[in-house]
Amino acid sequence: MFLVLFLIGSLVLRCNGADLNASCIKRERDALLKFKQGLTDFSNRLLSWEGEDCCSWEGVGCSNTTGHVIKLDLHNPSSWAMYYTPQREFCDSSCLGGDINPSLVNLTHLEYFDASMNNFSYAEIPSFLGSLKNLKYLDLGFAEFAGKVPHQLSNLSNLQHLDIRWNHLTIDNPGFVPSLSRLKHLDLSGLDASNASDWFHSINMIPSLVVLRLSNCGLSHIPLILDVNFTSLTFLVLSDNNFSSTIPRWLFNISSIRYFDLSSSAFQGSIPAEIGNSNLLTMLDLSENELEGALPASIGKLSNLTELYITHSNLRGNIPESIGQLSNLEMLDLHDNFLDGMVSERHLSNLTSLTHLFLAQNQLVFNISPIWVPPFQLGWISITSCKIGPNFPQWLKTQTNLFKIDMSNASISDSIPDWFDNISLSIEDLDLSYNHITKNLPKFRKLSAHLYREIYLDSNKFEGPLDPFPSDVAILDVSNNFLSGHIPQTLTDNGMPHMRLLFLSNNQFSGGIPVYLCKMQDLNFLGLANNQLSGGVPECWQKRQGLLVMDLANNNLSGPIPVSMGSLQRLVSLHLENNNLQGEIPVSLKNLANLRALDLSGNSFSSTIPAWIGENLSSLKMFNLHSNMIHGEIPQQLCNLVSLRLLDLGRNTMTGAIPHCFGNFTAMIFNGTRSEKTWSRYPYPYLNYPHLAYDDHTLAFIKGTELEYTKTLQFLFSIDLSGNNFTGTIPEELMSLSKLQNLNLSGNYLEGHIPSNIGNMKLLESLDLSRNVLSGSIPSSITDLNFLSHLNLSFNNLSGHIPSGNQIQTLDDKSIYIGNDGLCGFPLKKCTEEEPHKGFEKVEKTTKDETEKLWFFCGLGMGFTSGFVGVCSILYFKDSWRLAYFGFADKICNKLWVIIAIKANQLRRKLHWKRF
Ligand SMILES: *[C@@H]1O[C@H](CO)[C@@H](O)[C@H](O)[C@H]1NC(C)=O
Ligand SMILES: *[C@@H]1O[C@H](CO)[C@@H](O)[C@H](O)[C@H]1NC(C)=O
Ligand SMILES: *[C@@H]1O[C@H](CO)[C@@H](O)[C@H](O)[C@H]1NC(C)=O
Ligand SMILES: *[C@@H]1O[C@H](CO)[C@@H](O)[C@H](O)[C@H]1NC(C)=O
Ligand SMILES: *[C@@H]1O[C@H](CO)[C@@H](O)[C@H](O)[C@H]1NC(C)=O
Ligand SMILES: *[C@@H]1O[C@H](CO)[C@@H](O)[C@H](O)[C@H]1NC(C)=O
Ligand SMILES: *[C@@H]1O[C@H](CO)[C@@H](O)[C@H](O)[C@H]1NC(C)=O
Repeated sequence: MFLVLFLIGSLVLRCNGADLNASCIKRERDALLKFKQGLTDFSNRLLSWEGEDCCSWEGVGCSNTTGHVIKLDLHNPSSWAMYYTPQREFCDSSCLGGDINPSLVNLTHLEYFDASMNNFSYAEIPSFLGSLKNLKYLDLGFAEFAGKVPHQLSNLSNLQHLDIRWNHLTIDNPGFVPSLSRLKHLDLSGLDASNASDWFHSINMIPSLVVLRLSNCGLSHIPLILDVNFTSLTFLVLSDNNFSSTIPRWLFNISSIRYFDLSSSAFQGSIPAEIGNSNLLTMLDLSENELEGALPASIGKLSNLTELYITHSNLRGNIPESIGQLSNLEMLDLHDNFLDGMVSERHLSNLTSLTHLFLAQNQLVFNISPIWVPPFQLGWISITSCKIGPNFPQWLKTQTNLFKIDMSNASISDSIPDWFDNISLSIEDLDLSYNHITKNLPKFRKLSAHLYREIYLDSNKFEGPLDPFPSDVAILDVSNNFLSGHIPQTLTDNGMPHMRLLFLSNNQFSGGIPVYLCKMQDLNFLGLANNQLSGGVPECWQKRQGLLVMDLANNNLSGPIPVSMGSLQRLVSLHLENNNLQGEIPVSLKNLANLRALDLSGNSFSSTIPAWIGENLSSLKMFNLHSNMIHGEIPQQLCNLVSLRLLDLGRNTMTGAIPHCFGNFTAMIFNGTRSEKTWSRYPYPYLNYPHLAYDDHTLAFIKGTELEYTKTLQFLFSIDLSGNNFTGTIPEELMSLSKLQNLNLSGNYLEGHIPSNIGNMKLLESLDLSRNVLSGSIPSSITDLNFLSHLNLSFNNLSGHIPSGNQIQTLDDKSIYIGNDGLCGFPLKKCTEEEPHKGFEKVEKTTKDETEKLWFFCGLGMGFTSGFVGVCSILYFKDSWRLAYFGFADKICNKLWVIIAIKANQLRRKLHWKRF
């Protein structure tokens, strides 16, 4: 934010241009023309550089007494620069580039040179700039310079302003800095100074410094003791370094300091009480460090403070009441710490200027009288995960300027008060999710301003109908409530042109699916699952719609899959499971080449598996047809789905053999590489919530239980062909699928031997071959299946010794072998001619890759390794924390869902729409 303001500010200043009165000196004009020749200038910014009077050229300024060129301002005025990020890899045509011609040294009187925000293509900063002895102002920021900073710059003893931020520069020796003894403004942000030692002692030699920015310089050392020389320093930025030390107390002896940014620099320890000495401070940012301990009461002495940020740290204890003295404070942001205790009127009653209050992700308890009238008018309040309830906070009644409320997971079990309609009217973003709020939803009307609003009311106890929603809503999530009645069948105006996400899942909505959904062109995420919707799926989908996810699962929908669904070519996830849909899978779906998840299980589809699924849906990672009336053979083309990780054809009436080419499912084969992208997470990083995502899900019948996989779906590898009429043998090729965790072939007519190489499926956890006509002995390699925790070989014609050793020894339930008259050995009766068995003869092998194991635990091990799930989930969530750079991780912690929901088959199936 500050950067943007700063840039706007500097652009405005720069627009005042140069003084134009004097006439031009020929030698300088020649130098300028030569300089121009070296430059590339695609947008003709230097068009005016012709004719005699070089003082009137664009960006050139001359002294009106001597006529010498004293100013050269070539910074890129294009507005893109305001959106500059260090990751920028493009430069629009208004950038200058090319060579900086040495003729510049003939501009001997030059005092001001600004070439910022251009693209010099990784050229070095020319060392001859060091001979422009009169330079007072040098700005080469954001200009794609690279290499070392030339030490010749130390000759610029008149320099007051040096800005070389955000290039690709390095510096080994800060020795040149002290000779710039008149410097007031030094900005080296983004410069790699990790090899340079003693920065602060060098810089301390320049008492004139007013602005010092050393953000992202790779600094790792800051002296704990320094005899502070900075008597004028007002603006200090040391963010994004790696100091790994406590905050040095001398920083608070800089009495002139006003703006103080130490964020993201690995500072440790507690915040020194000396902080209260900095009584001119207006901005303090200590966020994203590893600070511990309590917030010192002396913070109340910072009477000039307008912005305070100490987020993402480990602060504990109470918020000191002295904070209530900061009557200039506009922004108070302490989110994501371990603060606890009360927040009372006393903390807030003198904060007359407060507009932003961010205390989310702490363990704070709000204890505020319902009749208290705050002295401030908040614009944005974010108190997610604080304990606000049980009552709805009455003191918000007076806050009629609010545009954002984040009050998720705040223990509110009240209904929404009537007065809230006055506030909700103007609210852009409202998040009351994960409370226990009862009765009707709040009302919304369309705002006059052109806004895309976000409304999260999911996971509450709202009941009653859903009123037509205003057309400026972009995100509406009311899933996991008790809403009933029809989904509004008419809308007040022309559809919902901006709606991106509509989640109504897990309610009691009945009636049909409204046809206007087909008109929502911007809609990306549609979740209507787990309701009582009936009738057909509308036949009106259109090519120009951008749907990515459509989830209509677990309703009472009937009829066929509409042919027009094949127009939704961007779909990545289509869920129609557990309805009464029937007929064939329409051939139009072959256009859905981006589809990763297709779940049609639990319907009455009665076709064969079309060959085009293998030929066209090449992105498929999950294909679930469980419990339908699919017949015929498995087409060979299915083996083309090399990305497939989950294939479930269980409980159908399919015939024929299991194709040998199942060995071609290469995604199920461990090939030594681990790094794979998350496939089952579809981010919807809208507006203020960069880390929101929809996690795909499926139910899988594994280990005799029905498990729902959501966040862990990406770790699951499974094939289920059970309950069909498959014949023939188990192909050996199947055993090469070394990532498989679940293989269920039970309830078919499979014959022949269990392949001897079954031990190749090293990660197999659940193996069910029961109720077939398999014969021969159990291969001894089965003892290599170190993770096997569920085995069922019952009701076959197996015979001989049950192999012993390792994991197989723990499977001591006799029933897994019954119905095989010829089997003997532990846990069944001893084999008659057998000598006493030798127990654990095999040496436990360690898997090659420990992480492989960990991931495996994540995927399936809920039953016997629930401890690991916690570990894995934390690793996983950390990623999204990283994403929440400027936003608010508030959304995260309270939504730490348990990864896998275990459910009995009979329970009502629930989907998990989750946000992190
Ligand atoms: C030069 O011209 C500018 C504006 O035209 C004026 O403000 C400034 O005082 C002049 N300087 C001298 C030294 O005459
Ligand atoms: C500076 O100007 C002189 C005289 O015009 C010229 O001879 C010389 O080449 C110029 N220097 C550079 C580096 O261009
Ligand atoms: C303070 O600055 C002066 C002037 O540059 C310098 O001579 C002196 O050594 C500096 N003091 C410290 C402690 O660095
Ligand atoms: C800072 O606060 C002091 C009183 O504590 C006041 O005199 C001074 O004007 C304030 N300065 C600014 C810049 O607000
Ligand atoms: C609020 O301000 C009043 C008047 O300046 C003062 O008397 C009172 O102590 C302050 N309260 C807090 C909690 O700082
Ligand atoms: C499976 O892979 C083998 C080679 O590994 C290849 O010859 C065969 O054509 C593939 N089958 C299918 C159906 O893709
Ligand atoms: C290994 O498998 C992964 C995932 O299926 C794939 O992305 C990668 O290209 C494969 N690597 C090799 C060397 O085959």
